[in-house]
Amino acid sequence: MLYSSVILLSIILSGVVAGPVEKKSFSLNRRTDGPYPLDDTDKLEESSLANFAAYLAKNPNKSGCTLENAVRRSEWSDLSEKQRKEYIAAVLCLQKKPPKSPRDKYPGVNNRFDDFVATHASDIAELHSTPHLFPAHRVYIWAYEKALREECGYTGYQPYWNWARYAADPINSPLFNGNDSSLGGNGIPDVYPGIKFGGGWKKPYDTIPASEGGGCVTKGPFKDMVVSIGPFQKIVSNIPSNPNSDNFGANPRCLRRDVNKYSAAVTADNYTYALIKESKTIDQFQATFLGTPAKNDWGVHIGGHYTIGGDPGGDFFTSPGDPIFYTHHGMADRIWWIWQMQDPENRMNVIPDMPPNTDTINLHWTAKTVNTYDVLNNIGGMGGEFCYIYV
Ligand SMILES: *[C@@H]1O[C@H](CO)[C@@H](O)[C@H](O)[C@H]1NC(C)=O
Ligand SMILES: *[C@@H]1O[C@H](CO)[C@@H](O)[C@H](O)[C@H]1NC(C)=O
Ligand SMILES: *[C@@H]1O[C@H](CO)[C@@H](O)[C@H](O)[C@H]1NC(C)=O
Repeated sequence: MLYSSVILLSIILSGVVAGPVEKKSFSLNRRTDGPYPLDDTDKLEESSLANFAAYLAKNPNKSGCTLENAVRRSEWSDLSEKQRKEYIAAVLCLQKKPPKSPRDKYPGVNNRFDDFVATHASDIAELHSTPHLFPAHRVYIWAYEKALREECGYTGYQPYWNWARYAADPINSPLFNGNDSSLGGNGIPDVYPGIKFGGGWKKPYDTIPASEGGGCVTKGPFKDMVVSIGPFQKIVSNIPSNPNSDNFGANPRCLRRDVNKYSAAVTADNYTYALIKESKTIDQFQATFLGTPAKNDWGVHIGGHYTIGGDPGGDFFTSPGDPIFYTHHGMADRIWWIWQMQDPENRMNVIPDMPPNTDTINLHWTAKTVNTYDVLNNIGGMGGEFCYIYV
């Protein structure tokens, strides 16, 4: 009552006195000289912040994390070329550090980078069960960022891939173009039948056509990378089989990609924007994110994965073996946050198929075990260790 009278009074006063009362509001302060204009999802993110700030004011985190002091994860092309190269150098460094996963079980794991790939493959259910998809990937991406920083001296934060920026022409984008400051490039041309979906998907949505690549990557910072475990699934041709029946043996081979414009097309901004705006429940948000064959839609999740495609990027089990994976799931984590911010009171603490409150996420050598409900908030989740936003 008193509070609303004060607001009313200040509105009246601000009308009478000189202009509106200056309200201290949080701003992302994005770069304005960047190569891409803000898209509708970017604008929605900005316009949601006031709502989210009000929620945080009512629910402050004990760890002291706030919007103002949270670290900022940037879009790939909003990083300077120097920052992009620092990130790339840290990934290459991780690929030279000794692994922590048990060698007897995972003999094909050569380094710390491969540790993350092994987690994704061996903890596939832990990461992809219906309630865990978003929270477990949030932990996973954060742990990767932490490894880059703490084990390889990276001074920035995990960049994300705003799919929309490159959807029309991915191969000529700063992410995929294959120059020294990209995570590219494409694989050499190869003939493969495209990506086939089972499960009753309707034609022509049961296949993503092959694009211009498919073979070994011969340009860019990862041209000499050695892919080792897997394959669990063969998407493109000429992938040698793993010597071990569980696919965790050493199978050294090149990084293969098909930077796929057909797949990228369904990651245009209107898809992401509609996903966030039209999903009224977390179940609907997840279902649309994952693709809705009945609506003839591959979904932005599949769209992003098969924009990379190839091996290991196109393999559900080992997809994090392509370094671009982490920028893709960074974007997934970002849009979950933007969806949460539309109605934080009702959305910050929900996941599909709400598990019991004792439920945990255990990613073994990748991150410490955590209560699932303690990672739903990027401002203060993970016992206060999460403190980041996307700009
Ligand atoms: C906030 O911080 C504490 C640690 O100080 C943490 O245990 C708690 O889960 C966090 N709360 C939220 C809502 O994330
Ligand atoms: C690499 O590509 C990006 C994006 O097109 C461009 O801004 C940058 O100048 C290129 N760098 C070099 C060294 O060619
Ligand atoms: C997005 O735009 C494309 C091209 O204009 C259109 O074909 C597609 O149906 C739109 N998707 C959504 C979800 O609105």
